[in-house]
Amino acid sequence: APPAIIAPSILSADFANLGEECSRTIKQGADWLHVDIMDGHFVPNLTFGPPVVVKIRSHVEKPTQRYGKGTFDCHMMIAEPKKWVKEFKKAGCDLYCFHYEAAISSTAAESPEDSSELKTSPRELIRYIHDQGMLAGIAIKPATEVDVLWDVLDSPHEKERPDMVLVMTVEPGFGGQKFMASVLPKVEALRERYPDLNIEVDGGLGPGTIDQAADAGANVIVAGSAVFGAKDPAEVISLLRDAVNK
Ligand code: DX5
Ligand code: ZN
Repeated sequence: APPAIIAPSILSADFANLGEECSRTIKQGADWLHVDIMDGHFVPNLTFGPPVVVKIRSHVEKPTQRYGKGTFDCHMMIAEPKKWVKEFKKAGCDLYCFHYEAAISSTAAESPEDSSELKTSPRELIRYIHDQGMLAGIAIKPATEVDVLWDVLDSPHEKERPDMVLVMTVEPGFGGQKFMASVLPKVEALRERYPDLNIEVDGGLGPGTIDQAADAGANVIVAGSAVFGAKDPAEVISLLRDAVNK
């Protein structure tokens, strides 16, 4: 598996001090920042949009290389993933990770006349994200079978292949939920087929659950409450890293 990438989820940060929280987490050893974007539609919760991302971007140095330190890993829990690609690129997003479930059913309920433009296949959406100059990720919810990902991962066109797959280990929407070990066979299946793929896990990760996820083959580790709620976040970050790299 590729080396560990630790991506604290700022959903558990102090929103009144977001800029400082972001720069501090990077200083404490985080590689990426995981930025949870929720639209109150794809998931039953709301977080923040491009203007907030612009502001926090200025507190964290831009990565100097692909997958480098300071990468903004935007987890797009939104019903219309295609619609926001350009806006988030402009705001400073480096990796745009959309949900497979949203891409295949995005029909713009509020504005049916636009629906044909917003509907897009996962392959086309990945190509579009790459054309805008971002890394592309594709996420699946706990109930979605891993097999739906073979189509993009096996595409003959490099631009249609994702740079990362996110296997949700909780139902998306909220921080602080219980880790679902039942989804780990999906991570194992991905790792077996794609030894070099960046496989991210998100939800309920911390010192008590990291070993199972790492053994299954995950290397990109999101942790919200476990990092931001810790007395010593630096220690938790290095513990997570060591569990993956062991
Ligand atoms: C949940 C989000 C997660 C969340 C993880 O919908 O995608 O990124 O912040 O929080 P913890 O690590 O507390 O489960
Ligand atoms: Zn997330």
